[in-house]
Amino acid sequence: MTSEQSWNAQVYQANAGFVPVLGRPVLALLAPRPGERVLDLGCGDGALTREIVEAGCEVVGVDHSPAMVAAARDRGIDARLMNATALAFEAEFDAVFSNAVLHWVGDADAAIAGVVRALKRGGRFVGEFGGHGNMAAVVTALAAVLGGHGVDIAAVNPWFYPTPNDYRGRLEAAGFSVDSIELIPRPTPLPTGMKGWLETFAGPFYAALPAGERQEARDETLDLLRQSLCDGEGNWTADYVRLRFAARLSGRRAPR
Ligand code: BEZ
Repeated sequence: MTSEQSWNAQVYQANAGFVPVLGRPVLALLAPRPGERVLDLGCGDGALTREIVEAGCEVVGVDHSPAMVAAARDRGIDARLMNATALAFEAEFDAVFSNAVLHWVGDADAAIAGVVRALKRGGRFVGEFGGHGNMAAVVTALAAVLGGHGVDIAAVNPWFYPTPNDYRGRLEAAGFSVDSIELIPRPTPLPTGMKGWLETFAGPFYAALPAGERQEARDETLDLLRQSLCDGEGNWTADYVRLRFAARLSGRRAPR
């Protein structure tokens, strides 16, 4: 969901097809009911969105990536191109759902304000994304590699991994009651290894380097990470930590 990142639906499916599959528990937390109108914030290629449709809901998906919107439409989803910080809906959804997207949204409060506007009073906001400590080894390795090439990671890191306290505070300030919010460590096997993962997700970091240094930097990152995230048989596991929450819009509306 960042402008620096380009998404290709086929490559995403190969490198990160596990993302919607592992998002099923948050779908269970949403507990979609037939007839509900649901917004899927950051619907990607629509794999999980489709499951909400199949639960009998009327679903709109939004995504920042034209390629992902096209892939979701191919699945028959009402998918629209929209930025998470500029949701253009007004009091029309019973629930907003979001899986594996909000860590890309730097202005978290703008996204939450858009969710508040989009929900009917009493509506639910249920989601999961990278929380505090997510991909800690990867972020540390990227910091070391970029630093070695003269780039301060803080200037280019697009990922937002809040603590439960931080995100709870933002939700409550916007008018939500938080039913649950927790960090869930989830070591995740990577089907195409760390190389595939970095190719799909770490573009904004390497884009900060001159083109001639990027391949070398990718190789250096893999060398650093191999020690901790790759087993003796060459299987890579990513150190994911999810922040999963369920909140309900109470009477008070956020200031616009
Ligand atoms: C995540 O799902 O936690 C994630 C995905 C891509 C980049 C960073 C984090």
